[in-house]
Amino acid sequence: MANILCIGAGYVGGPTMAVIAQKCPEHRVVVVDIRPERIAAWQSDQLPIYEPGLDEVVRATRNKNLFFSTDVDRHVAEADIIFVSVNTPTKSFGQGAGKAADLQYWEQTARHIRRCSLGHKIVVEKSTLPVRTAEAMERILNTAGNGHAFDVVSNPEFLAEGTAIRDMQAPDRVLIGAHDTPSGRRAMQAIVEIYAHWVPPERIITTNLWSAELSKLVANAFLAQRVSSINAISALCEKTEADVTEVARAVGLDGRIGSRFLNASVGFGGSCFKKDIKNLVYLCEYYGLVEVAEYWDQVVKMNEYQGRRFVSNMVSAMFNTLAGKRIALFGAAYKAHTDDTRDSPALGVCRALVAERAQVVLTDPRALENARASLGALAENVVFEPDPIAAACGAHAIAILTEWPCFAELDYQAVYATMAKPAFLFDGRNLLDHRSLHHAGFNVYPIGKPPLVHVGERRPGGGSFPAP
Ligand code: UDX
Ligand code: UDX
Repeated sequence: MANILCIGAGYVGGPTMAVIAQKCPEHRVVVVDIRPERIAAWQSDQLPIYEPGLDEVVRATRNKNLFFSTDVDRHVAEADIIFVSVNTPTKSFGQGAGKAADLQYWEQTARHIRRCSLGHKIVVEKSTLPVRTAEAMERILNTAGNGHAFDVVSNPEFLAEGTAIRDMQAPDRVLIGAHDTPSGRRAMQAIVEIYAHWVPPERIITTNLWSAELSKLVANAFLAQRVSSINAISALCEKTEADVTEVARAVGLDGRIGSRFLNASVGFGGSCFKKDIKNLVYLCEYYGLVEVAEYWDQVVKMNEYQGRRFVSNMVSAMFNTLAGKRIALFGAAYKAHTDDTRDSPALGVCRALVAERAQVVLTDPRALENARASLGALAENVVFEPDPIAAACGAHAIAILTEWPCFAELDYQAVYATMAKPAFLFDGRNLLDHRSLHHAGFNVYPIGKPPLVHVGERRPGGGSFPAP
């Protein structure tokens, strides 16, 4: 039996440890966090995060071999293996502000581990970190005159919110990086053995530490790049009467390209993509690779452009003024099946519409509470309405910003009847059936497709071809 500890009970630490506890019943898994209210929520029936399937796994393991605690000192002292999944936000101050990872929590955690440890421990980087962070961590951990008591292993997470449990239970691959030294190899083997409980050996990849750290940044950069690539093409489709869904299908059927992550949208969000690319850009700049840095930075710029473009399409379609108009925003979460609003494009749109002095009504089945917190003072200018039908009532426009299936199930004929006319629908996720919406009376503006407008109304930017 091993004592496994995870520091950081967030979107990554919680689900990851719950699945490890489920799959490794002989190990004791403890998750600690400095925020007592988070730990209290993990111990309750109302878990602090929404993640499909998580409740069941936690219910099956909690207080059997999965425990949540705020007693960091005690559990560090008892642990054999310590996963660290504290947050590593983008630095907002000083050198590297806006780009580099803010490693203060990581460093504090490393010092904490050193302070409370007596014997040897394996410290596993779960948080996304800049390449070569392990080097700094090793120096902090191993400078207490305690010899080389710690081995640092990198085991980046690849789980996506909304599918985190499935991603953990059946991962495409598990990546484990360690030093090629006798103790590094032993530490790596200890982590391999955990995952080998349920992951086939060919899916457990071992590399050197720096490759593992860098692979995480690169995987997210490639995924985000695909979204920015198709979003760039969506802008061109809107000018040329091509249909981005048809283009994505035609392109994605090429086995070399593949069909996933080609959904044009209002933009990517979440706590990882932007942060990780900014981090990659900072690393490249640090090493003097200016062209490489610029190349990746463009992925983020394109994403920001897509959000701005969406709002400016709304403004120009709605007669160049939104002031005083009620607008229903369908979705606050950065993607469906999560309550997470970090870096959500929906909130970017929300802020821009408030700046246009629209009366914004925000609806989301799970994320309204987090949206309110993320918007801060701006929340005073937003109505939070859990029921999408009530949100749309009296509105001049609906904008679909998160691809929640429940938004696709509404009776839009009935919704249309309650709205101000002409009624507009901007589908930032290409979620709905645009032809039937048009039939119902809406002026429909998808992403990367010709708009479906009623006679006398024109496409944004005053395009020269008529609506079909
Ligand atoms: C975070 C990072 O954002 C991500 O880059 C990384 O890959 C994994 O960790 P996430 O789990 O989504 O992802 O973050 P969050 O939900 O904020 O959880 C981090 C937790 O760590 C918080 O609950 C926070 O209270 C806790 N924490 C932070 C500590 O316990 N100790 C600290 O010193 C700092
Ligand atoms: C991502 C990675 O997928 C995961 O491996 C990593 O561990 C953490 O970062 P996550 O951010 O949770 O996961 O969600 P993901 O499914 O990757 O979506 C990210 C954003 O891109 C969302 O806002 C999503 O709506 C958007 N997206 C995704 C698109 O706009 N179009 C697509 O085709 C795919």
